[in-house]
Amino acid sequence: MTKQMKLFAFDFNGPAHLSAGLWRHADDGASDYKSLSAWVDYARLLEGACFDGIFFADNVGYHDVYKGSVDAALRDGAQIPANDPAYLIPAMAAATTHLGFGVTSTTAYDHPYSLARKFATLDHLTQGRIGWNVVTSYADSAARNLGSGKQNAHDDRYGIAEEFIEVALKLWEGSWEENAVVRDKATCTYVDPTRVHPINHEGTHFKVPGIFLCEPSPQRTPVIFQAGGSSRGVALAAATAEAVFMNATSKVGLKNQVDKLRAQAVEAGRDPSHIAVVQMMTVITAATDEEAQQRYEEYAALVDYEGAMARYSGWAGLDMATFDPDVPLRHVKTNAGQTMVDLFSKMDPSKEWTPRDIAAYIGIGGTAPVIVGGPQKVADELIGWMQDTGIDGFNLGHGLKFRDIEDFAEFVVPELQRRGAMRVGYEGSTLRENLFGAGQARLAADHPGASIAKKIYR
Ligand SMILES: Cc1cc2nc3c(=O)[nH]c(=O)nc-3n(C[C@H](O)[C@H](O)[C@H](O)COP(=O)(O)O)c2cc1C
Repeated sequence: MTKQMKLFAFDFNGPAHLSAGLWRHADDGASDYKSLSAWVDYARLLEGACFDGIFFADNVGYHDVYKGSVDAALRDGAQIPANDPAYLIPAMAAATTHLGFGVTSTTAYDHPYSLARKFATLDHLTQGRIGWNVVTSYADSAARNLGSGKQNAHDDRYGIAEEFIEVALKLWEGSWEENAVVRDKATCTYVDPTRVHPINHEGTHFKVPGIFLCEPSPQRTPVIFQAGGSSRGVALAAATAEAVFMNATSKVGLKNQVDKLRAQAVEAGRDPSHIAVVQMMTVITAATDEEAQQRYEEYAALVDYEGAMARYSGWAGLDMATFDPDVPLRHVKTNAGQTMVDLFSKMDPSKEWTPRDIAAYIGIGGTAPVIVGGPQKVADELIGWMQDTGIDGFNLGHGLKFRDIEDFAEFVVPELQRRGAMRVGYEGSTLRENLFGAGQARLAADHPGASIAKKIYR
């Protein structure tokens, strides 16, 4: 039987996410990013197409590594302006009943007590459709504006993230008993105080002695996503993630990553099928292969070198202006995101990448592979990626904001559904149920969060 693919639409609450210069295309929706009704219409479209959810990237820094300045990023709207995605969710949730919402939020400049409250609130307002993409941040600009001025070292950021998640899990899972809210008018008892417990957390980075602010939400813990690909990132994902977002550029590389993650999940005592892996992918489609190819060529002609380099320099923590655009990039190590550097230096040992090659590649949809074609070809390719690598689905980026996913919903979704490779309706109502099946609204029993209540009060 064909495995049904998980599908998220990858987006950003700003005019331009991953593609460089493409906001200039007449069909691009960049100028609508401040329109709540545009996002609400988009949510309805995604739910009509049976997507698992929309997945928002977010970044509390900006790209100012390229030429030591933010100017190139500003000119291309390269992930700036950047509005907070969380505020879009309640409106999109009110217009839908099944669509999930992944929201990226950093462990570097927030506090677990306030983050846990924000996500519990969103889980209540979406009736259990929220996911948290845990990131450790990579931009020095964020550290200058929000932190101590300088980023913590890469691995130390992961140490903080591990404890951050532990505290958040204690708050979501271990503070309020399921039946703590009694609303008993006769005794004037809204909450039974004997059923709300302090978490008594005292660790290296956080001290949270008290009780949580929110009552249990439908999922209690939001679905935990993770994206970092370094060894610390994979270890964190194997221990605590329920969905992992990968951005491999080849099937061989992706299969290695998936196998490694699943093996580490087993070592951590978890069933590897309790982690859904979604690969970043960009699809440019139309009614026929020829029309899709024509669109791709229009996009390629608009790619902006400076905008692409502004993004890549920020992601990799490496000023690409210090390299000749036409000379292959040497293997380098940085304190930002190792994944982004490794991506091109290790992707294909037989190919040396120049900055110009990288700009052309990432200019359409960022680091994701790009599939160009009509419904048959795209469906063949997507199913092939799943079969050859063991992934569970895709986080679909775009060349043009809104438009490419609208085309995907119109042309590719019916073909995938016809082949039994995509759902035709929703089985459950929460995001966790979208990913793991009806009845799975709460953390799986082998997740470290599932046994926390036992340790705190049972
Ligand atoms: C596919 C992918 C998507 C990511 N999305 C974001 C994001 O939206 N915001 C952010 O601050 N970091 C994002 N990151 C950064 C990572 O979560 C992580 O903090 C960074 O990659 C450094 O960790 P690493 O060396 O383990 O990859 C993303 C990384 C990857 C690989």
